[in-house]
Amino acid sequence: MSKSSAIAHSNIALIKYWGRSDQADSSLNLPSNDSISMTKLGLSDIKLETHTTIEFSDKYSEDSAELESEGLSGRKLERILRVVDPLRKKAGINLKFKMVSKNDFPTQAGLASSAAGFAALAIAASSALKLKLSKEQISTYARLGSGSAARSIHGGFVRWHKGNTHETSYADQICGPNDFQMNAVIAVVSEEQKKITSDVGHESAKTSPFNEARISVSHNQVKDIIKAIKDNNFARVGKIAEASCKYMHAVMMTSEPSLFYWQPATIRVIHAVQKMRAEGLESYFTIDAGPNVHCFCRPEERDEVQKVLEKIEGVKKTIPVKPAEDSFVTKKHLF
Ligand code: PMV
Repeated sequence: MSKSSAIAHSNIALIKYWGRSDQADSSLNLPSNDSISMTKLGLSDIKLETHTTIEFSDKYSEDSAELESEGLSGRKLERILRVVDPLRKKAGINLKFKMVSKNDFPTQAGLASSAAGFAALAIAASSALKLKLSKEQISTYARLGSGSAARSIHGGFVRWHKGNTHETSYADQICGPNDFQMNAVIAVVSEEQKKITSDVGHESAKTSPFNEARISVSHNQVKDIIKAIKDNNFARVGKIAEASCKYMHAVMMTSEPSLFYWQPATIRVIHAVQKMRAEGLESYFTIDAGPNVHCFCRPEERDEVQKVLEKIEGVKKTIPVKPAEDSFVTKKHLF
């Protein structure tokens, strides 16, 4: 059979996905609300990309997967199979596979490694299985591994429709990477693996009394932010994104078990962003399921924002990012 490789970019949510719909089988990863993101390309030596190669062949007697030279088993291998098995079924192929994957950034430190990882896997596997799928269809398979991975199939600014079936919960592009002028600088506070993965966190969201309020507010936020993106209104996008982040963390902190992802330096960055804004350097923060902070800014002010962030106590490094192009199939194989 054949071997294919793909490179996928990570993404940062502007309107957050937190918690799964309780109307469907939880293995489908149907979210409780639509979410919006920017697919991102790192501008330093870290591009925030995952490169994955997969081969289906009768020379393999079992499925195997390797991430950063470490063989995956148990729950980690099961998550890979959640994406590959339905694709294999759709292609009517029974062959075993070998998969090798590498990130150019730390895994599980709030830099969305699972988004880039499962997007690269869905693209590479559908190509190796010679399935002719649209990007929207590929996004539904990426979603089975990690919800946010659905959004990483496309470049630029992306909407993941919550849907109510496997087929209707897909991501599509709002606009390309050059259509809306926004960059970000990531303040990396910790590169350690997080203790509670988002996969587990999604389950606890419904235990927070603020969960329903967050979901209901998100519907208008989605409409408003799409309009602001199309109007190239940076300030409006930043304000809405910051609000969505705060609502999600309010749910996390008030869930059972309670999830506090922030560290002291996370708060210092938040305060620095507020101070920059008060002084006329406009920046807005967002934080995923980890302590690191993405600070949105205008492209021409990115260097200035980076200079402020890198001086903050506890910020280990800063990574400037811009909107990325679509994730893609590459002829460069890892084995
Ligand atoms: O795709 P997951 O299961 O890793 O969940 C992502 C959750 C957040 O990053 C916190 C928010 C989002 O929409 O990306």
